[in-house]
Amino acid sequence: MAKRVQFARTGGPEVLEYVDVTPAEPGPGEVRVRNRAVGLNFIDIYFRTGLYPAPSLPSGLGTEGAGEIDAVGEGVKGFAPGDRVAYAQGALGAYAELHVLPAEKVVALPEAISFETAAAAMLKGLTVQYLLRQTYRVKEGETILFHAAAGGVGSIACQWAKALGVKLIGTVSSPEKAELAKRNGAWATIDYTRENVVERVRELTGGEMVPVVYDSVGKDTWETSLDCLQKRGLMVSFGNASGPVEGVNIGILNQKGALFATRPSLNGYADTRERFEAMAEELFEMIASGKVAIDVANRYPLSDAAQAQEALAARKTTGSTVLLP
Ligand SMILES: NC(=O)c1ccc[n+]([C@@H]2O[C@H](COP(=O)([O-])OP(=O)(O)OC[C@H]3O[C@@H](n4cnc5c(N)ncnc54)[C@H](OP(=O)(O)O)[C@@H]3O)[C@@H](O)[C@H]2O)c1
Repeated sequence: MAKRVQFARTGGPEVLEYVDVTPAEPGPGEVRVRNRAVGLNFIDIYFRTGLYPAPSLPSGLGTEGAGEIDAVGEGVKGFAPGDRVAYAQGALGAYAELHVLPAEKVVALPEAISFETAAAAMLKGLTVQYLLRQTYRVKEGETILFHAAAGGVGSIACQWAKALGVKLIGTVSSPEKAELAKRNGAWATIDYTRENVVERVRELTGGEMVPVVYDSVGKDTWETSLDCLQKRGLMVSFGNASGPVEGVNIGILNQKGALFATRPSLNGYADTRERFEAMAEELFEMIASGKVAIDVANRYPLSDAAQAQEALAARKTTGSTVLLP
């Protein structure tokens, strides 16, 4: 038997159950990973609450982790039991001691990167990779706006932007979070619970506004974000921490300056083995070179996944959180 976290109905953190299950055997093309650390992500909350529907119930939860290969299925090449690996995609169920997923969703983990770091960095770091390097390829000297700059994704984005010579304006909800974002390389911060974001962006950019806004807050910041953009700027809406953006009239993009908008996801970018490997390689280089330090600020036993999710949803965390089986 092995432990896993599952939910049989959607709802609050109380629907998460810590149970014993018979571990699944890896099928053709699959591997079973013995997780040493599991990443906690806001998307896990969307699945638990039902905002994103799980394919079936009861369901496992989580898509990010790191550990050792425990067993390989038929036809798997390139991985053997004992290999150190990490992953950020695949079926729900990473909140577990043992997790089965397609071998093509797993990458070898360099010795220099610990399991905790990898579990804290895979989903969030690959997200920052595609946001800053693909969705809108930021250029040295540019000023950009990035919401929730002290969070898991935000902490990585601040450092990565700084390494590229980009001036990142980060929004945060407290002085402590502002200080953290600054330490991570944010060029400026705005407390969006106390300050007028559009006015502050106007001041900071000398009236130019920004070519791109990265917005994972969703409902609460959608319109503000559009108002921070230059003409023909790009709105990257990549999350719903405050609730989903709904009922948008596409005409608003014209009213606010012939804007572009995109709603990307990791699965939309790491959609082939080649792309996934190239993205992971770039992320691992950023970590190994010390340009991006992964802040594993919060650790919980796997059995306390509900408390960990409560803290994330209540904006109490900074940096990344890992669950330890
Ligand atoms: N599309 C993708 O591919 C993708 C991939 C990974 C993550 N994401 C998204 O990126 C975001 C960050 O993910 P994460 O796991 O690193 O979480 P996180 O940033 O550590 O936590 C979310 C942060 O959002 C801010 N926030 C603003 N309004 C909020 C509200 N009403 N309730 C809760 N939080 C609120 C809080 O920071 P303040 O207190 O400073 O406001 C909070 O700390 C999430 O929205 C997630 O869904 C998207």
